[in-house]
Amino acid sequence: MSQPQQSFSELPFFQGNFSHTWELFHENSKINLFSIGPSEKAVWERMRETHESLEFAGYPIIKLPTEGVKLASSLQEAILTRVSVRDFVSVHMSLKNITTLLHCAYGVTRDNRGTKFPRAFRVTPSGGALYPLEIFFFSSKVKNLIPGLYHYNPSKHHLRFLRKGNFASVIAQRTPFPNLVKKASLLIFITALFERSIFKYGDRGYRFVFLEAGHVAQNLNLVSNAMGLNSVNIGGFYDREMDDFLGLDGITHSTIYLTAIGKNAKEAARALPLRNKIRKDLLPLGVHERRRNEKKPKYK
Ligand SMILES: Cc1cc2nc3c(=O)[nH]c(=O)nc-3n(C[C@H](O)[C@H](O)[C@H](O)COP(=O)(O)O)c2cc1C
Repeated sequence: MSQPQQSFSELPFFQGNFSHTWELFHENSKINLFSIGPSEKAVWERMRETHESLEFAGYPIIKLPTEGVKLASSLQEAILTRVSVRDFVSVHMSLKNITTLLHCAYGVTRDNRGTKFPRAFRVTPSGGALYPLEIFFFSSKVKNLIPGLYHYNPSKHHLRFLRKGNFASVIAQRTPFPNLVKKASLLIFITALFERSIFKYGDRGYRFVFLEAGHVAQNLNLVSNAMGLNSVNIGGFYDREMDDFLGLDGITHSTIYLTAIGKNAKEAARALPLRNKIRKDLLPLGVHERRRNEKKPKYK
């Protein structure tokens, strides 16, 4: 596996010729006045027949707390201060942190029981309320969770424990950013079961899947920020290797986006108590200058 390349903007996504596959796809996924999809009855029937979320029956269930953590900042503040962070320090999280992140990312908000509609609605909008995405995560930093790979079931509000192990390096190798990935406290995988949208919308449904992943990732970015954490979204990863790690076939079900969450190393250093923090030789010059010239306070 080729390693390591740190700059996202310099990634060699296109080696040599620019293909026009995207243009072909875009053209073919256009709709017009005469486009006809399946009937509402057929769509609802299909929705009733299929799971809202993968079940992973037989794997251990971890019930998530019903209450999450209180957010430390307003929505406006979270939006205005959101920034991609790539240099994390290891921080531990609680199961309440995980609940808050996952529920705000893709959780159920309206169960639709007693209505005609066959699916619950969630925090994110979804074309036809079909919710084609699944959420997996790896962490070795969650208190009371065994290090390993987990799957989040939004409608049941629980986790399934899929595989035990410290997979930080294994996942890191499947991206061009091994250092970033290794230091994150939580790695969230957004995966897509394309057919869930495509059966209704055809090729247009493929567009919807990615639009919807953007909604989920943005929620993760904003909520982690409002929790005093930091994040970066990763669209550049080695697809086949990542699907292989998650056990996906890469055709009907693929990894489409990752979000790494942790604590910004620089911010964490600033937050340390003063006595631990200061190595005078590492301080920026301006700070030494100010200190040298500072007048000693006079105490009475
Ligand atoms: C679709 C998408 C894919 C991205 N993929 C990566 C990535 O693979 N690695 C990375 O370091 N940053 C990635 N980013 C983050 C961007 O580099 C970042 O958002 C951009 O430089 C602007 O910086 P800001 O997020 O701090 O405002 C991605 C962002 C988006 C929206």
